[in-house]
Amino acid sequence: MTALAIRNASVFYPVPGKPSVHALKNINFEIHEKEFVVALGASGCGKSTLLNLIAGFMAPSEGEISLNNRIITGPGADRSVVFQKHALLPWLNVLDNVAFGLKIQGHNKEKREKIARNFIALLGLEQFEQSATYQLSGGMQQRVGIARALTSDPDILLMDEPLGALDALTRERAQELILKIWRNTGKMVFFITHSVEEALFMGTKLIVMSPRPGRISHVFDLPFSQRYFETGNARAIKASADFIDLREKILQIIFTDESGDEHE
Ligand SMILES: Nc1ncnc2c1ncn2[C@@H]1O[C@H](COP(=O)(O)OP(=O)(O)OP(=O)(O)O)[C@@H](O)[C@H]1O
Ligand SMILES: [Mg+2]
Repeated sequence: MTALAIRNASVFYPVPGKPSVHALKNINFEIHEKEFVVALGASGCGKSTLLNLIAGFMAPSEGEISLNNRIITGPGADRSVVFQKHALLPWLNVLDNVAFGLKIQGHNKEKREKIARNFIALLGLEQFEQSATYQLSGGMQQRVGIARALTSDPDILLMDEPLGALDALTRERAQELILKIWRNTGKMVFFITHSVEEALFMGTKLIVMSPRPGRISHVFDLPFSQRYFETGNARAIKASADFIDLREKILQIIFTDESGDEHE
């Protein structure tokens, strides 16, 4: 079943006194149930713009985006966003941060704490429920952000470089955690990263984007996360010959884009 559909979407950003920026040109793709779609591409190719369209933070200049056959016209509880900076509320403890969206939605204290505790446990944060968020490490703060995003039971999780600020070891652990959550919850995921290795490891589908104007240049189906669920050995997968071959192929595509070689 097609759940998210992006049809002929283009975005022009107006710039005072200059020609407008053509941030996205004629984007077409779909995210199906249980897919984990990763977007990769040179800086400025329009990845965040695309995520913002799906989130409903902005409207496309042309085209349309729909979720479960309903056109997206603004933000909604069927989509949750996890940003690179977790955007937690420093005056609230972990439990209240995770439950915050439910409070806004008007759920009573008992209900929202029950739901929040479920996701706090899923993210392995039980011991930190009462902690202030500034007492947590960056990786733990990001887990709080993910728990909060899950509380509204969205159809799709939108993640814009969620692991970009983490050290290498924490990042690898967080990748595995997100994959397990994705499998356990069955959510669709749209995930932006600058790391080719992370993209290949996590996605079931990879879209590679090119800049000026932003567009999708390549699409790959990926087998590696499935392999991870079968073997549990992330490092061995990332060191395997077919993983490395594809990684080098994609790096080549992106470096060619970065050096200004236009495809049009
Ligand atoms: N509000 C805005 N006004 C004008 N131009 C913008 C605006 N937001 C983004 N742009 C431009 O649109 C293009 C796409 O930006 P976007 O942030 O979507 O890229 P990105 O792929 O997410 O980049 P990065 O990898 O650096 O995060 C860039 O050229 C950017 O400068
Ligand atoms: Mg971005």
